[in-house]
Amino acid sequence: MSSIIYPVTNLAAVEQINIVSGKGVYVYDDAGNQYLEGLSGLWCSALGYGNEELIAAINSQLETLSYSHLFGGRTHPVVIELADKLAAMVPIPDAKFFFSNSGSEANDSHVKMLRYYSNAIGKPQKKKIIALDRGYHGVTVAAASLTGLPVMHSHFDLPVDALGILRADCPHYFRGKVGDESEDEFVSRLLRNLEQMIFDEGADTIAAFVAEPLMGAGGVIVPAEGYLPKVQALLNKHDIFLWADEVICGFGRTGNDFGSTTMGIKPDLMSLAKQLSSAYVPISAAVIPGAMYEAMAEQSADVGMFGHGYTYTGHPVACAAALKALEIYERDDLYARAATMGAHLQSRLQEYADHDLVGEVRGKGLIGAIELVANKETGQAFADGRVGAFAQRACQNEGLLLRAVAGSSVAFCPPLIIEESQIDEMIEKFGRALVATLEYAKKENLIE
Ligand SMILES: Cc1ncc(COP(=O)(O)O)c(C=O)c1O
Repeated sequence: MSSIIYPVTNLAAVEQINIVSGKGVYVYDDAGNQYLEGLSGLWCSALGYGNEELIAAINSQLETLSYSHLFGGRTHPVVIELADKLAAMVPIPDAKFFFSNSGSEANDSHVKMLRYYSNAIGKPQKKKIIALDRGYHGVTVAAASLTGLPVMHSHFDLPVDALGILRADCPHYFRGKVGDESEDEFVSRLLRNLEQMIFDEGADTIAAFVAEPLMGAGGVIVPAEGYLPKVQALLNKHDIFLWADEVICGFGRTGNDFGSTTMGIKPDLMSLAKQLSSAYVPISAAVIPGAMYEAMAEQSADVGMFGHGYTYTGHPVACAAALKALEIYERDDLYARAATMGAHLQSRLQEYADHDLVGEVRGKGLIGAIELVANKETGQAFADGRVGAFAQRACQNEGLLLRAVAGSSVAFCPPLIIEESQIDEMIEKFGRALVATLEYAKKENLIE
């Protein structure tokens, strides 16, 4: 065992796989075994591994300017170019970008900027943020507080109340419906609950509502039909920002530029990371509208500065990687390709819908999940994560890296460059793993 504290790991039972290299959609361990990377690492390696153009752009930037900071208004051409490029892409008027290294930092930056802004506009009470049950927004103190997964809160004593974070219903119809409620009725009930929450708390105390357009780590949940556009209409009525956490969905994952496009919403704020640079160098961005920036700028004049920023904000090498990744996505029409390949992935995943262990098959574009259940008739979930963990290991034994998320949902999120034959390879490997998983669940008496 090395001296590393492993993230999001059972520290008392670290199981190791030592990945030493990667090429295309495959990675290789220290024993030379090949694995199809079915989750793009952690939902991020859009262009797969060993992309020579990206590597050349990164190397060239390292030679020209390996580092420069942005404090006090110092700047450099690569960050300016990236911000201009992104401003032309996002659906936010006169968008401004705060760059950092990770999705969590982007979200923490948003929490701070929302607070800064509420003070700037003379509404210091308008600071609460509504976040969804089972939403995932990262692990820094504020981002983890927004996250709605109990395991990410356990034993950390997070300042959820101090930050004014309110928890709204998860819009997962399969898990959340009551009795024989239709999907429409389910959405109406959730909207009524949300409106009641806004009424009880007071709209003038709520700054924003944050959601992933498609919820990733919480189980790859496609929000119930019509839910997000209806939420947007409600928020508009109450002057509350809609904040889309696009950390997974952004840059083609759901078959469009952003998950917001796929879900038919037009957010006020966005968080971008992961595929922004195809994970070759860490970079993220918190995106706000120009009008919000103007108010913040005026206020910063009072104190002489906007007191937030990281050593690596706008790191030139990360910006160069992002610019090249965006250029490749556009040139190779990868968002449309994700839609076409995504349709193939979704239809192949559906082949497992009738399997005894499968409760729901869901997804959009090149992201999907198969939820394993203890009782196919009733959809009863497994009591713990043993079956999901077994399925993940069984996939690994077949040479396929997937992740069981939120207990027993096996997530698929391959690189956007995946070929149809490689999707087929992934599905077949998963099929064999599913046979082994069913045997295990039966042997352990975990099926009802
Ligand atoms: C939707 C979403 N937001 C935020 C984050 C946090 O990003 P990071 O792990 O880069 O801090 C993640 C990470 O998976 C995510 O999926």
